[in-house]
Amino acid sequence: MNEDKEIIRDFWNYRSQKFDKSPGHYTASKEEEEAWKGLLRSKLDDAEKILDIGSGTGFLSLMLADMGYEVVGIDLSEEMIARASSKAKERGLSIDFHQDDAENLGFENNSFDAIVNRAVIWTLPHPDIAVREWMRVLRPGGKLCFFLHVPRNEREDTLQKQVLNLWILLSERRNPWRTLGSKGQAVNLPYNGGVKPGVIVDLLKSVGYSHVFAEPMHEIETLKSRRMPYPYRISHGHGQFCYTAEKPKED
Ligand SMILES: C[S@@+](CC[C@H](N)C(=O)[O-])C[C@H]1O[C@@H](n2cnc3c(N)ncnc32)[C@H](O)[C@@H]1O
Repeated sequence: MNEDKEIIRDFWNYRSQKFDKSPGHYTASKEEEEAWKGLLRSKLDDAEKILDIGSGTGFLSLMLADMGYEVVGIDLSEEMIARASSKAKERGLSIDFHQDDAENLGFENNSFDAIVNRAVIWTLPHPDIAVREWMRVLRPGGKLCFFLHVPRNEREDTLQKQVLNLWILLSERRNPWRTLGSKGQAVNLPYNGGVKPGVIVDLLKSVGYSHVFAEPMHEIETLKSRRMPYPYRISHGHGQFCYTAEKPKED
């Protein structure tokens, strides 16, 4: 593992400890969970074997396994993997979680009917290499479906952000100012802070995906924000988009 990847892995190992305390990292109501499942079902359709890349503590993997899909979850952080595995065990779900790198996967070509991920591309040093690698392990006609936030509004009140950080410090008992690279280690993450949908659509098309679409996630965001603690709600500048694409079928 190169030095950048070690920094990224160490950050997520640290972050895994309180990851599930952040309101964006779990479904806060049955309605929200059903909305996620409905969205996933509509995008993944007749897929059977699904790879969740950067599975974290299992947000997508657990839902997909519960829906009856065969799920493999990979993550760079072994501590995220340990947490996801223990949640799967508690729920009686069988999911193959193991450590791997989104930019250099240990799978054969054409191994999966679908690939999913959420909030992962921003934390990769080479998103272009990653999306090519994902195409390699997808079968022809296989679906890519992922979720990613757009950049914060540049004019967002920094006071709101600081209020939120204080609230996180007190309620989640973690240091919100510790972010990737904040310990003086420079990691170049081209999409850190979020990406505009047009950039992702162009990226996916440029590496050869077909049927590329980007859609805002209004329903889920409305359901989520209703249950968010107030400091999160007023500072919630990150809209999420759902991206879908297909690996072209062979002639
Ligand atoms: C913001 S978290 C999202 C976790 C999960 N997908 C979710 O929606 O809750 C980003 C995840 O990507 C993982 N990650 C970062 N770089 C990775 C890489 N190169 N390969 C695999 N996973 C990676 C991190 O360890 C972390 O679990």
